[in-house]
Amino acid sequence: MSSFGDPATFLASLDFDKKLAHYDIQGSSAWAQALFRADVISDDELKSIIKGLQSITKELNEGIFPFRVELEDIHFNIERRLIELVGPVGGKLHSGRSRNDQIATDIRLFCKDAISNILVLLKRFQKTLVDKAESHIDVMLPGYTHLQRAQPVLLSHHLLSYFEMVTRDVIRFKQAFDRVDVLPLGSAALSGTPYGVDREWLANELGFGNISMNSMDAVSDRDFITDIEFSASMTMIHLSRLCEEIILWSSEEFNYVTAGDAYTSGSSIMPQKRNPDIAELIRGKVGRVAGALISTIVTLKGLPLAYNRDLQEDKEPLFDVVTTLQDSLDMMAGMLESLEFNTDRMDADSRDDLLLATEVADYLTKKGVPFRESHGVVKSLFEKIVEDGVSLSDLDLNYYKEFSTYFEEDIKLINTESAIAARNITGGTSKLQVIQRINDARMGLSEDEQD
Ligand code: ARG
Repeated sequence: MSSFGDPATFLASLDFDKKLAHYDIQGSSAWAQALFRADVISDDELKSIIKGLQSITKELNEGIFPFRVELEDIHFNIERRLIELVGPVGGKLHSGRSRNDQIATDIRLFCKDAISNILVLLKRFQKTLVDKAESHIDVMLPGYTHLQRAQPVLLSHHLLSYFEMVTRDVIRFKQAFDRVDVLPLGSAALSGTPYGVDREWLANELGFGNISMNSMDAVSDRDFITDIEFSASMTMIHLSRLCEEIILWSSEEFNYVTAGDAYTSGSSIMPQKRNPDIAELIRGKVGRVAGALISTIVTLKGLPLAYNRDLQEDKEPLFDVVTTLQDSLDMMAGMLESLEFNTDRMDADSRDDLLLATEVADYLTKKGVPFRESHGVVKSLFEKIVEDGVSLSDLDLNYYKEFSTYFEEDIKLINTESAIAARNITGGTSKLQVIQRINDARMGLSEDEQD
C-alpha cells in the first residue's frame, strides 16, 4: 500500500506486523503475570487483562479482529482493543514495558517457531535425498569438473553430496536458534524496567533459554535476524545448485532426468516443451533471499544505540525469507521425490573409456611409475585410442606395452565398476562407502526424531 502524501501511513507497520499478533498476545499475557507477581497489578486486574487478551485471540482466530491502520502497528492495535474490551485496567498492561522490548520479544518468538519449522523441512529434504540415493545405489554416471566429464561416480554419491550440504544448513539453523533464544522483555524502552519483574520467570514462561544482559543492546540487537537470513541464503544456494543440475539434466543434451508433471510446465507456443519451471523458480528465488540479508545488514550498519525506527525495516525481508525458504524446501523435496532418472543413459555415459584415464594412470603408479610420468603415458595412450577409434576392452596387452612396459595382463581388469570400487576410502564413491554413509545418515535422522 502506498503512503504517498500521508506521513501516518508511511510510519505504519500494521500491514506486515499483524503477522505477529499471536506472539504479541503471548508476550503480553506473560508480562501481565509478571506485573502481578511484582505487585504492580492486582489479582482482579490480571484476570481482566488475561480475559481481554483471550477475547482478542478469539477475534483474531475468527477473522473479526478490527485492525486499524491509523493505530500504526500491531502493539497499539491490540492495546487499544484490550482497553475497549476491559476498560481502563487494560491501560495498566503497558506498565514498565515499551514497544521496543515488546517488538524484540515478538520477533524472537516468531523466529524460534520459524526455525523449528525450517528444521523439520530440512530433515524431510535430507530423508528424500537418502531414499533416492538408496533406491539408486548401483547407478553410475559421469562425475564432472568444469562441466567436463571427469571420472565415473555413483549417482547415490552425487545425491548424498547434497545431504552433506543440508547437514551443514541444519547445524547453522540450530546455532541461529541459540542466538534467537534470548529474552529481551524487561529492557523497556532502553534502560530496563523500574518494576521488580522476575525476568527468569518470564523467560521460562515464554520458553526462552536465556535472558539478555544489557537492555540497550537487547532492544536494538537484530543480529539473530541476519543469522537466519544468512543461513537461509546458504540453504537456498544449495537448493539452487541442485536445481541447476536438474535443469541441465532435463535437457535433451543430457537427458538424465524427468521431473514429475506437477513440477514442469509446457510452453504456450511450443507444444513439445517440458520446462523445469519449478527448479528454475527455486534457483531464481536465491536473489530475493540473499537480497534480504543485504537489506538487513545495510539497515543495521551505523545505527546508534539504542532503538531506532530503522529497525522496523527488519520485518518484511525476514518474513519473505522464511516463507520463501519454507516453500522452496517443500517444493524441492516434492520435486526430488518425483524425479525419474534415466539410468540407462547415465550408465552408458559413465562407460566412456576416457573417464578411466586417471584409473589407468593410478594403475601404472601402483606398479612403481611416478604419477607425473604415468600421467604423460596415459595422455599419449588415450590420444592413440581416440585416433584409432578403439575401446579399452578391445585392446590386447601389446597395445599397452607400446606406451609402457609396466603394463601387465591385469590392466584388463580395469573398468568403470572397478574404478568406482577402488575409491573405497572415507568420503569416496565406492558402494561400500556410500552404503556406510547412508546408514550413518539414517541413524542421524532417527536420533534427531527422538530429540
Ligand atoms: N513498529 C515498530 C518496529 O517494528 C515497533 C517499535 C516501535 N517503537 C518506537 N519507539 N516507535 O520496530
